[in-house]
Amino acid sequence: VDYATGANAKGRQLSNYTQVVESGCPIMSYFGVAQADTDSSLKAGPRGPTLLEDYHFREKISHFDHERIPERVVHARGAAYHGDFVLHTPIPEYTNAAVLNDTGRRTPVFLRFSTVAGSRGSADTVRDVRGFAVRFYTEEGNWDIVGNNIPVFFIQDAIKFPDVIHAVKPEPHNEIPQAQTAHDNAWDFFSLTPETAHMMLWTMSDRAIPRSYAMMNGFGVHAFVFVNAEGKRSFVKFHWKPKLGVHSLVWDEALKLAGQDPDFHRRDLYDAIEAGNYPEWEFGVQVVPEENEHDFDFDLLDATKLIPEDLVPVKYIGTLTLNRNVTEYFPETEQVAFCTQHIVPGIDFSNDPLLQGRNFSYFDTQISRLGGPNFNQIPINMPLCPVFNNQRDAMHRMPITKGANYFPNRFDAPHPVPPAKGGFVPKALPVHGVTTRARGEKFSDYLSQAQLFYNSMSDIEKTHMVSAFSFELGKVEDTGIHKRIVERLNEIDHSLAAQVAANIGQATPPNTTKNHGKRSAFLSQINGKAQTFT
Ligand code: HEM
Repeated sequence: VDYATGANAKGRQLSNYTQVVESGCPIMSYFGVAQADTDSSLKAGPRGPTLLEDYHFREKISHFDHERIPERVVHARGAAYHGDFVLHTPIPEYTNAAVLNDTGRRTPVFLRFSTVAGSRGSADTVRDVRGFAVRFYTEEGNWDIVGNNIPVFFIQDAIKFPDVIHAVKPEPHNEIPQAQTAHDNAWDFFSLTPETAHMMLWTMSDRAIPRSYAMMNGFGVHAFVFVNAEGKRSFVKFHWKPKLGVHSLVWDEALKLAGQDPDFHRRDLYDAIEAGNYPEWEFGVQVVPEENEHDFDFDLLDATKLIPEDLVPVKYIGTLTLNRNVTEYFPETEQVAFCTQHIVPGIDFSNDPLLQGRNFSYFDTQISRLGGPNFNQIPINMPLCPVFNNQRDAMHRMPITKGANYFPNRFDAPHPVPPAKGGFVPKALPVHGVTTRARGEKFSDYLSQAQLFYNSMSDIEKTHMVSAFSFELGKVEDTGIHKRIVERLNEIDHSLAAQVAANIGQATPPNTTKNHGKRSAFLSQINGKAQTFT
């Protein structure tokens, strides 16, 4: 990859940090002295012992000893690619974010795909959710949409995240299984946590074994907030639609590939990009004006729910193309630090309690993963513009700053920027109520969208789901968990529950499945006609 000649602004910036190892260049110590021998340590005579005085030996070994950093606590296994985003349809009616209004820009992006549960060395094709983390290096700063290939999440409140992750990660006593959901703790948690019902079905669907990274949807999952130039607010969900369509492996293929080629997905996209077959996604927004926030039978702040597209269609506004592989995995893919709190003027957060927790969690974990609070100075994390503020010192501080380090100061530097000149102003969403740990009333409907999703599938997709549940539960030893999952499935679809029950040796449950759809004409104001669901 030759960043310097690329048209891409982030590429040009990275080229300042790219060291090209050319034929004939010397091996040197870190303090710049060329070394005559890197193969033999300095010894007291040819048969030793090795001498402490050998600084080249000590420097080489000591650096090697510290090469590893902690892997991400989740999404440890991933692969990332550079590209760009071009807007074709400006949306000033919803947001004044320049990146979503200026069709003349080619905004550099960095996209990291990942699995969730497996360790950094695990296989690509396991049954799991896929991370879909996009960074836009906009002229107004970095904007990250840290999403997944599934539009909903397991839980509604970030305070439960350590629980769901402990349950789906390997069992603590033997660290088995390394990457899949098929073990007692995960299914124990799902069976005892009804809010997981909807996402549990998605992870047992073909979406959880994608054919290629280039054949997956991406979703921002949460409702975010758009603010336009007049200060009018809307809720928005972000969508990525692959031009190649959504395709999946079948389970037998996924299992074989996990053994034969654990790098299947990262290799597939690396090779495509090297060959000039650049994958593309259409970027879409689903917008709900603030005044329609409560028109739905679910809460917009509940990340276990999607907004059905026939209620609020997705408006496609731009194209993302991946066109460049990374030069070196560690400084780019491993050190990139995505965070939901990276937003630019015109975009803001909703009060979704899962999103609010994520805004804290990412930068907090990166302080330990990347060795202190200066990880924003690592080249892949730097925005395109120079950064001024009064944060100083700490481990691995890179810039050498001349000038004031406090505000206010007699030099007016650095100083706050008024909104008219692009200074960020947090949105003005109303808040009300007394402090409580309780959730919104509508958060307690766990089943209607799970049922909606199941009913939306074709017969072959339903067959695959029965097989997936049967395979996964077949690996669970505790029959109490079997019983609870069959009961949950029976609340969603009797035939699904009966088939899974038969496959795992459970009694057929009584046919008591209810229709959980309780749709009203709630969105008639938005789409001009009443909508009903069955
Ligand atoms: C990492 C997505 C919920 C904590 C990631 C990554 C993605 C992601 C894509 C990988 C980032 C990368 O490639 O570097 C999501 C989605 C969520 C969700 C879509 C729900 C809608 C949460 C919650 C928490 C959390 C609720 C904690 C409260 C983390 C942490 C990392 C991570 C700590 C590792 C970050 C790092 O080390 O750089 N998540 N996540 N996530 N997520 Fe989430």
